[in-house]
Amino acid sequence: MCGIIGCFGTNGVAEPAARSVLEGLRRLEYRGYDSAGVAALDGCTLVVRKDVGYVDQVAVRFELEDMTGTVAVGHTRWATHGGVTQGNAHPHTDMAGRIAVVHNGIIENYRALRDDLTDAGVVFRSETDTEVIPHLLAMAMADGCPSLAEAVRKVCARLQGSYAFLALSADGGGTMVGVRKDNPLVVGFGDSQIFVASDVLAFGPMASRMAPLLDGEIVEVTMAGVRFFDVYGSELAKNSDAVDIVWANTDRNGHPHYMLKEIFEQPRAVCECGAGEDDSLVDAALAILGARQVVFTACGTSRHASLIGRYFFSKIARRFADVVMASEFGYFARSLNPQTVVIAVSQSGETADVIAGVKLARQAGAHVVSVVNRPACLLEEMGDHVIRLGCGAEVGVAATKTFTCEVIVFYLLAHAMVNRLKQGRANVERAGELLGELLQGLNGGLWKLAADLKGRDHFYYIGRGVNFAAAMEGALKLKEISYIHAEGMPAGELKHGTLALIEPGTPIMAICPNDETHAETISNATEAKARGAFIIGVSDLPSEVFDYWIKIPAVSPLLYPVLLIPPLQLFAYHMAVARGCDPDKPRNLAKSVTVK
Ligand code: AGP
Repeated sequence: MCGIIGCFGTNGVAEPAARSVLEGLRRLEYRGYDSAGVAALDGCTLVVRKDVGYVDQVAVRFELEDMTGTVAVGHTRWATHGGVTQGNAHPHTDMAGRIAVVHNGIIENYRALRDDLTDAGVVFRSETDTEVIPHLLAMAMADGCPSLAEAVRKVCARLQGSYAFLALSADGGGTMVGVRKDNPLVVGFGDSQIFVASDVLAFGPMASRMAPLLDGEIVEVTMAGVRFFDVYGSELAKNSDAVDIVWANTDRNGHPHYMLKEIFEQPRAVCECGAGEDDSLVDAALAILGARQVVFTACGTSRHASLIGRYFFSKIARRFADVVMASEFGYFARSLNPQTVVIAVSQSGETADVIAGVKLARQAGAHVVSVVNRPACLLEEMGDHVIRLGCGAEVGVAATKTFTCEVIVFYLLAHAMVNRLKQGRANVERAGELLGELLQGLNGGLWKLAADLKGRDHFYYIGRGVNFAAAMEGALKLKEISYIHAEGMPAGELKHGTLALIEPGTPIMAICPNDETHAETISNATEAKARGAFIIGVSDLPSEVFDYWIKIPAVSPLLYPVLLIPPLQLFAYHMAVARGCDPDKPRNLAKSVTVK
């Protein structure tokens, strides 16, 4: 949550840094979008412009494009401490206005620090935890710190919590320093500009090489170039890698929203998922087979994919696995041991709850398999084995193609456990082809269905087995982007309470493909219909109970979720658009949830 980027033009002829920062902020907006701001060093003057609103709204209001100077830092915010106000928007500065800071994360001991600073005469201008940082830096410099980098190192020793921040000092011709702890920060090297940002996506087209920072490492950028320091202040040599151009591509390709583009990318993503990952899949499979207990941990959509994964493990490889939602994982930490394999699943690879759980798992000596999409993410650093989804950047806040690819990875992993990876791949490829054909023909019908149902307040999604987890995911998509209450549940649970909520016309999505769950789910749908429910069947088989039929093709039974979730994503998308909501930027949410 919150995106930060800094740009330093090192040869003095590059375009104004603020313009590059602005471009980066647009590409980081998936991390938060309730306010935005830029600080640029113009000559000797630090100019700060910030306000509430999307990046482009603030850019127009404050002419961010026209900010001059070769050094700038910027921020796009998801509020944690302090309301969504101009004063709380970043950058924050010290009292003299000589140091500007942009921050992602939470400074947990900010109250105590704020009290100390107030006692020392500092006047705060915001309610944020962040504002303590520029004041502490100014104090450290006033106390004789020889450089901004050294001041950052000293100040970090006083900070508790998680953070990645950039400090820009107006003194000495301009210095930009970045540091991180438990939040990502990546350095990008362009022809004439150095970038430091939350994600490689931010500077993707503007830089050719990149180097992620590790916890405690500090990067300092001045006119003299880039230097790295370790946590003790000793200078470090750091290697850089080429920026993956495909990954960094955030073009919408003519689609009105990223979500729609990403939904339609799924057939290809499914076919290509896990390519080049055979060794990782087999290594992870061997670790799982050798373990006493196997636990998935994940949040939101990644948890729903994991719930499907556990059925694959059981059905294909006869291995029981549990799924513990990452925010609850810590409460089970005592049952972890070196015979445990923890499969940590996160498309962003930086979800705070998942990272915290993996830390506990590592402390207990458990083996960690990281399943991630974003390159160079925290979870990748922490895994004994890493399996990459490889489906390119997902920008829409609602996870779509990463869900489908996570499901595919678990399907392949289960096949690797029984030495049938090749067969698994063949089944997956067929599913990808079928999905391509399905999506082409479905769009218009779902748009009409959404137009008819957009006024409904409650939806229920039911399914059994792998389709139960698919029901949960369908419901999550609907509620997060169209703000309609939706519940996903095992079809057999309906009569244990929720049936009381069914009224004439209540829409129920009955997920009942032609697998072992079909007949019983149809029975449960029939019970609901007897109470007046409007049944939308998602199946390859017709049924009299359906008031509307979302027809999907037949596929290898366990792979039905791969065919039925994209139509549910598409339905949620059309509902959001029909209700005037922005599916890419749902209210109160952000794509990377880096706070607990
Ligand atoms: C999905 O549509 C949601 N935006 C959310 O539930 C998300 O899946 C969750 O925050 C986990 O994200 P991760 O995969 O990056 O860890």
